[in-house]
Amino acid sequence: MTAAAVTKAEVLELAEQYLCPDRVRTMRTAGIAMVIGRREGYRLWDLDGTERIDLHLNGGVYNLGHRNPDVIATLLEAVQTYDIGNHHFPSGPRAVLARRLVEATPGMRYAVFASGGGEAVDLAIKSARRATGRRVIISLTDAYHGHTGLALTAGDERAAAAFLSDDPNDVIRVPFDDLAALEHALIAHDVAAVLVETIPATAGFPVPSTGYLPGLRRLCDAHGAAYIADEVQTGLGRTGSLWGTQHFGVVPDILVTGKGLSGGIYPIAATLLSEPMGAWLEQDGWGHISTFGGSELGCQVAGTVLDLTLAPATVERAAAVARRWARGLAELARRYPGWIAEVRQTGLVIGLRMHQEMGGMLMTKLLFDEGVWAMFAGFDRSVLQVKPGLLMDDATIDEALAAFDRACATAASW
Ligand SMILES: Cc1ncc(COP(=O)(O)O)c(C=O)c1O
Repeated sequence: MTAAAVTKAEVLELAEQYLCPDRVRTMRTAGIAMVIGRREGYRLWDLDGTERIDLHLNGGVYNLGHRNPDVIATLLEAVQTYDIGNHHFPSGPRAVLARRLVEATPGMRYAVFASGGGEAVDLAIKSARRATGRRVIISLTDAYHGHTGLALTAGDERAAAAFLSDDPNDVIRVPFDDLAALEHALIAHDVAAVLVETIPATAGFPVPSTGYLPGLRRLCDAHGAAYIADEVQTGLGRTGSLWGTQHFGVVPDILVTGKGLSGGIYPIAATLLSEPMGAWLEQDGWGHISTFGGSELGCQVAGTVLDLTLAPATVERAAAVARRWARGLAELARRYPGWIAEVRQTGLVIGLRMHQEMGGMLMTKLLFDEGVWAMFAGFDRSVLQVKPGLLMDDATIDEALAAFDRACATAASW
């Protein structure tokens, strides 16, 4: 049986048996079981034929749309010449992409590639520890940085404990946007790094106060800790700047990118390191190895992703998309004040908070039935994450907003 030959019911059956039983059962019970067949631009087609607008984008993987033709053309051309490469030797695609990322990112000097965001966060933590000679990591309460080793340990305590990966001696968690708590933790421990998402996705994209990230930067400097910016979701043009840190006017010591760097076509992620954070690369050439990290095919694809993301036409379009969403969501908030509590928006990084504790979760289901796929925030289920693509056209935005209107009307009628 080939994948193309199976029906939706057969796929769900197979997945429930062999892939992730609980997830499949939960999605089925919630009435949001989708099996993606065709996908194009910002649209997904369920195998049962239902069409939906994608406002989840797999966390930004599809910033430039599903099956972006320029990204596909790059991959097709790349496979004529390249493959994964060999981790002992540099290659043209890997070296050129490293230079491009470093040159595009203030404060950075080296790039180390990974096959996914979690692996890149792991390397960020390892580098900070190696540079500072300290172990303790400060992260945020309700943080998600991936499910690999150190990323899992540094994220949500319950998720780490489920795999016996929690380590209270090594990870201190402080609330978001709370400089006093951060300072207290920095004074109390010998801290290697403060690891934060620029706008925490799974917490519902709360917008940091004006002074928060600059204050965090100052506190890290004062206490000799590295500032690691996880830009897996907030990078690559989503805030209006290439990186969210640029939007907020701060320069971290280490910046992690992933998801969208792949163009949704070939997995690749990167850890960008400042001179001191990457000093170990000058001394220990085999200090870190990743067979698939920096695959030549992925590097070629990521080069095109950077070209497209930085193109003035894309930057302009992304700004127009953000403005249209801002107008549309403000109108919805005005029409449904009893349902919508708050619109949190930084460019295309948007959280829609409902008054009801489970409001974001309910919106996921209501929108699913209205032809939109958008996911609530895992750590704050009152919030719906809204992640429009950089190149979304006006008609698609308006169609999605009309679905939001219908969903809000239903919720308001309860
Ligand atoms: C902010 C953030 N960091 C890291 C990761 C981990 O990335 P990956 O799933 O590619 O390991 C994710 C994934 O959702 C993420 O949202």
